[in-house]
Amino acid sequence: MATDQTAASTHRTDVLADRNDRIRRTLDHIRNDSTDSVDAVSTFTAQEYTDPAIARRERDAVFGAVPSIVCHGSEIPKPNDFITMRMPRNNVIIVRQRDHSVKAFVNLCRHRGALLEEQEKGRCRLFSCGYHRWSYDTDGSLRAITRDNTFGEIDRTRYGLVELPAQERHGFVWMVDDADAEIDVAGWLGTEMDGILAGYGMDRLVAARSEGFDEPVNWKIMQDAFLDGYHIQYAHPNTAAKHIHTNVMAVEDFGRHARFVAPRKTIDKYLEEPPAPDEDLSPYITETHFLLPNSTLLRQPDHFELLTFRPHPTDPARCRMEMRLVVPTLEDSGMDEERWNRIWDKNWKILLAVLHQEDFPLLRSSQAGMASADAGGMLLGRNEVINQIFHRELRKLVS
Ligand code: FES
Ligand SMILES: [Fe+2]
Repeated sequence: MATDQTAASTHRTDVLADRNDRIRRTLDHIRNDSTDSVDAVSTFTAQEYTDPAIARRERDAVFGAVPSIVCHGSEIPKPNDFITMRMPRNNVIIVRQRDHSVKAFVNLCRHRGALLEEQEKGRCRLFSCGYHRWSYDTDGSLRAITRDNTFGEIDRTRYGLVELPAQERHGFVWMVDDADAEIDVAGWLGTEMDGILAGYGMDRLVAARSEGFDEPVNWKIMQDAFLDGYHIQYAHPNTAAKHIHTNVMAVEDFGRHARFVAPRKTIDKYLEEPPAPDEDLSPYITETHFLLPNSTLLRQPDHFELLTFRPHPTDPARCRMEMRLVVPTLEDSGMDEERWNRIWDKNWKILLAVLHQEDFPLLRSSQAGMASADAGGMLLGRNEVINQIFHRELRKLVS
């Protein structure tokens, strides 16, 4: 036990030292007007944002092949709690089982194909179809065929809901949007990112606020914008740019996923006089994780923000963004309920205002720009490291 504790505290010290090294690198960058960079500028085309064949390939080779986060487990806390969503390939029901595991099903009645569950979220003992009232257990099995004395004999075991691979890990529910696929979230994350996420204990947190936005923008334009440290001063002069340095990043490339620290302006006090070697510098940064294929996880001093981006099932020029504020539970926070709600409401409103007033208008106009037939080639700079990683890894998945 004592050895375990020593190991755990050594691990914490290592994590802290490692983070401090990266933060010191951002201090050097601020002094030198530099940032981490990749070897070369890369190019891309407008077709990647408009071509239905490319969009289809992404739905199958990306969302139908690898795990992506669909919600936080706290959104379906009890057995029979469910949420529904439109994934790129399937309409989906995610439902908590009696043994507390999660399952995902195609949201479709196996009789004549009606959408089985119309509500976005809820709790039920049975999924019951509105058309001819067939019903299914929350474990997916076909429970009842109405007027079955007239319907005819079928093998009921073959007509349960179609199951999709889903798994809960690090507090989030992940799925692969293909019934024939398998899921291994730890394997997909790899040792480094799996270890990083494990260290955050997000399974003990709750999604205090969440909302989805259907935007007339390709999902990659959206994903790129929320990994972008280069636009802050120009797109967010009176909001984010007041707090965060523009175009300064210390990046770790884990070969598939990545993370970076961006310094807050409060770090400037250390430009002249360097911090003590053992001072915890994490209050002076934001730390952003890119989880391939479609998530940005921001680690703030006292909470996390998760942003996910999913293609529309048919239209390359549309997507759904979801934003979640993942925070300590009311009990763990030590706050009273009124204060807990007030704090997260305030955070949430600030995030929503920046999205709706600053990011979304720019991103809609990017999509409009991409509609030109003779757009010409476009560029990602050496300084746009995380975007380069996203595009590099996406290319591997679709090729
Ligand atoms: S389509 Fe569902 S019961 Fe007929
Ligand atoms: Fe932005």
